[in-house]
Amino acid sequence: MLKTGLSDCYNIADLRKRARRRLPKAMFGYLDGFAEDGVSGRRNRNSFDRFQLVPRVLVDVADVDLSTSILGQHSEAPIICAPVALPRLFHHQGEIASAQAANDAGIIFTLSTLASIPMEAVASVPGPKWFQLYMYRDKGLVKELVDRAKASGYLALCLTVDAFIGGNREQDLRNGFSVPPHPSMRTILETALHPAWCWDYLTKPKVTTANVSGDRIAGSEGKTTLLEYVTKQLTPSVTWKDVEWLREQFDGPLLIKGVLCADDAEQARNLGVNGLVLSNHGGRQLDHTVAPIDVLPEIARRVGDDLEIVIDGGIRRGTDVIKAIALGAKACMIGRPYIYGLSAAGQAGVKKSLDLLRAEILRDMQLLGCRSLAELNGKFIRIGE
Ligand SMILES: Cc1cc2nc3c(=O)[nH]c(=O)nc-3n(C[C@H](O)[C@H](O)[C@H](O)COP(=O)(O)O)c2cc1C
Repeated sequence: MLKTGLSDCYNIADLRKRARRRLPKAMFGYLDGFAEDGVSGRRNRNSFDRFQLVPRVLVDVADVDLSTSILGQHSEAPIICAPVALPRLFHHQGEIASAQAANDAGIIFTLSTLASIPMEAVASVPGPKWFQLYMYRDKGLVKELVDRAKASGYLALCLTVDAFIGGNREQDLRNGFSVPPHPSMRTILETALHPAWCWDYLTKPKVTTANVSGDRIAGSEGKTTLLEYVTKQLTPSVTWKDVEWLREQFDGPLLIKGVLCADDAEQARNLGVNGLVLSNHGGRQLDHTVAPIDVLPEIARRVGDDLEIVIDGGIRRGTDVIKAIALGAKACMIGRPYIYGLSAAGQAGVKKSLDLLRAEILRDMQLLGCRSLAELNGKFIRIGE
């Protein structure tokens, strides 16, 4: 049997190391990298340190309940798999493996518009799923995606509003990252040094944007950077009018992903949106943004009674999740953590990432002296410098 090294992974950082080992440099760079100087990305992590936990002692924590309900959907833990474009670049099992592991963990899986497996095929994996939507220039195409998502049983739509043009990810340019990978001397050599990934990639069906294929997508054939694709297909003219339009097209729960300002949160609420994902796209879009965890308290105060708030960006530990819930979030999305697992070992790796996080949340809740997510509130947090 192939050694995956998962038994040597004790936290998400260990899974990251395994992913780095298995992936060619350009693939790992696309997964792990930030935009420009990486300030948003680093801040996502560092900001968690400001929020200190204040444990209560002598509480009976023999039975801690980590389950919750997110927009009416039961979840066994306050974590959600974030939408990630083209996961089959990292492992041929892609979204199927990820959705299966999410279902086994009893949590929600979010499928990207830029999925590498068609949404209908992913929908055939049991378990609750959301569909992440990008606003294409072609509204007819967006309407088709919405109708297909609804017909295939996706429970909620999540409109991403912070990536209507690609972020400036210089490492992708430097590494020659493209879809499909461009065969230069350097990339061929790099790929040869990662035989497991290479075998997987070359022997499995081609990686494409499976939800939106065909002649409607000019530029989807041949070598193209993801940045070029996004720039050609998505519209930078997306506004609140499109949110109003989308609200009319879809009567299920609607979230907006990429909100960081309380005024925008109010605007979303006024237009009948049901939830927000406070996010800077994992530091991959605008550099130097505020960190989602830093704006969470204010946004929760402004709209928390009316909207369900999810946050993402830099969540790597159970304590990160606990802090977010205590400050007013309903759940946290994780992006890279489960994709590190996928990259390292397919479905078993995704399962490992979810198991690790769940075990950490459980242990930390016990050590914090808190028995359920409903009990978790600002009293457990002290804000430091
Ligand atoms: C490789 C990769 C691809 C992504 N693709 C998408 C996408 O297609 N749609 C989207 O809304 N967000 C996308 N994101 C952002 C994630 O949904 C999420 O906001 C981010 O990863 C959270 O930060 P974290 O990776 O630190 O957990 C992507 C992130 C990564 C790492």
